[in-house]
Amino acid sequence: MCGIIGYVGKKNSVPYIIDGLKKLEYRGYDSAGVSILQEGKLVTVRAVGKVAELEKAALLANPKGTTGIGHTRWATHGKPSEENSHPHTDCSGEIVVVHNGIIENYLILRTKLISLGHKFKSETDTEVIAHLIEENLKHIRTGAPEERLLKAVQKTNKEIAGAFAYGVMWARTPDYLIGVKNQSPLVVGIGENESFLASDVPAFLQHTNKVLFLDEGEVVLLRPGQVTVLDKTGTEKKVKPVKISWDQKTAEKGGYDHFMLKEIYDQPQAIEDTLRTARADFGKILGLDTPALRGLQNIHIIACGTAYHAGLVGKYYIEQFAGIPVSVDLASEYKYRSVPHKTKTLAIAISQSGETADTIGAVKKAQELGFRTLAICNVLGSTLTRICDSTFFTHCGPEISVASTKAFTSQITSMYALAISLGLANGNLSKSSFDKLHRELMRLSKAMGETVRQEYPVRHLTRKIYKADRFIFLGRHVNFPIALEGALKLKEVSYRSAEGFAAGEIKHGPISIIDKGTPVFMLMPQGPLFEKMLSACQECRARGAFVVTITTPDGEKEAKSVSDKVLLVPQVNEYLQPVLNVVPLQFLAYWIAKRLGCDIDQPRNLAKSVTVE
Ligand code: F6R
Repeated sequence: MCGIIGYVGKKNSVPYIIDGLKKLEYRGYDSAGVSILQEGKLVTVRAVGKVAELEKAALLANPKGTTGIGHTRWATHGKPSEENSHPHTDCSGEIVVVHNGIIENYLILRTKLISLGHKFKSETDTEVIAHLIEENLKHIRTGAPEERLLKAVQKTNKEIAGAFAYGVMWARTPDYLIGVKNQSPLVVGIGENESFLASDVPAFLQHTNKVLFLDEGEVVLLRPGQVTVLDKTGTEKKVKPVKISWDQKTAEKGGYDHFMLKEIYDQPQAIEDTLRTARADFGKILGLDTPALRGLQNIHIIACGTAYHAGLVGKYYIEQFAGIPVSVDLASEYKYRSVPHKTKTLAIAISQSGETADTIGAVKKAQELGFRTLAICNVLGSTLTRICDSTFFTHCGPEISVASTKAFTSQITSMYALAISLGLANGNLSKSSFDKLHRELMRLSKAMGETVRQEYPVRHLTRKIYKADRFIFLGRHVNFPIALEGALKLKEVSYRSAEGFAAGEIKHGPISIIDKGTPVFMLMPQGPLFEKMLSACQECRARGAFVVTITTPDGEKEAKSVSDKVLLVPQVNEYLQPVLNVVPLQFLAYWIAKRLGCDIDQPRNLAKSVTVE
């Protein structure tokens, strides 16, 4: 969590930094701060709350300088307060640090530094970095200030432990910034006469699309328009910048009130773009030839939150189309459970950000067990894509809203493409069955285009139900994970109590929470389990529930007879239906949150990428 930005160039860095922080705000928004090198002195401005608060404070203080760093915080060590806001300084006030991640041995270091006379001003783990650099600098007396700072940073890196990325600026080194990446995201942008350091590309995308991705343990030295990367051993490394094809507009709201709404509407394009890659042979992506694909005996899917729900849908796909047994684990559980070692196992990690600490931890465990690893990920250059043996990219473009929407449907789409490709490779699917499933997949984006047009009926419905205390979501088979996802989405953005269940389970307990007027959402496209869902509607209605059915045109008539409201989605094949069925639930969450006046894109207590365990 947390967002870092740094600028060195020829212009006043303040607007670049504030603007970059706004783009990074999805990473955390408890407080924000900026330090600017102004005529040899550091001017630091910090504010509790969102970047808008910092912007007001910075306008008043009006610092100016061509070198600066900024930070938006998601609190881990120490409450959200001005003292705990970054940037943090050493005792002299000449060194400032912005940091993302956790310094695991900070308590030991802090105690040691205090015994050496250092005075701490915050409760954060970050502050130890600034003091440690100061301490190390005392012992490096020769060389130019830039060289001395680098040596002090390198020594500091050997002393701190954990997953972190940080940026450092010293009042004695104008036009110079150092960045360090160790298992937390950090990217570099190279512009004309200016260089950027940031936790994510959108922070500087409007200024440059030339991006350097760093490897773990690397240190980067930034000067205006000039960047030097040092590898783990401190040796200079030639790295070719990558040209990012996202434009800034893609990374912005595009006229919608919220990123969440824009991203729901992005879904037809996101699916289209994702499928463009899926046309390639999955075997190549996995780095396996056909005999090796044929030989796969087990698949473990690991993910968190929404991505986990995509994994649950993926299990139905792989078992149906490829006949390979699949287990789906929450990454935070996989890491700590005993996983029997089985040969010919593929671990698939699903993650929008590619920076989720739990998922990364679980992948490392899978690798220790000798499993091959595949990432299904949306972010180029992210940690997950670097550690996995191969990656299939969901091409959704940047997902800014904390609540995931387009990444979810792209993840499910990718799982389907993977499952049918595996099925073809291992002979579980005939060529003609594969072709049929593939054709249906290629029509999905069009059906999604029709589905997102259904916003109005959902919006209208929410007027009636938005004040309800609790919401229930029910589905079966491939739509069971969609019930879980519908509940998660609603909880996240509207703070309402919501639960998803397998429809067949309600009689085993959950039906007791249904009361007069409780809104119950039934995911019931026409298909093999339609009749069973009709019975579940009756059961809930008999207890006074306000039943909303999400069905396909063929099921409309019967659904009407057992529900208070019917929402229609286009009919696609039974297995692709979840990709569409989730859309009304995304609109539902959005409109309930909007009517309740919630902060939709940045819900309380949440952050977009959860880079701590
Ligand atoms: C839900 C949501 C979270 C994430 C989860 C995993 O809307 O956004 O539940 O899905 O934190 O994040 P990634 O996919 O980045 O690993």
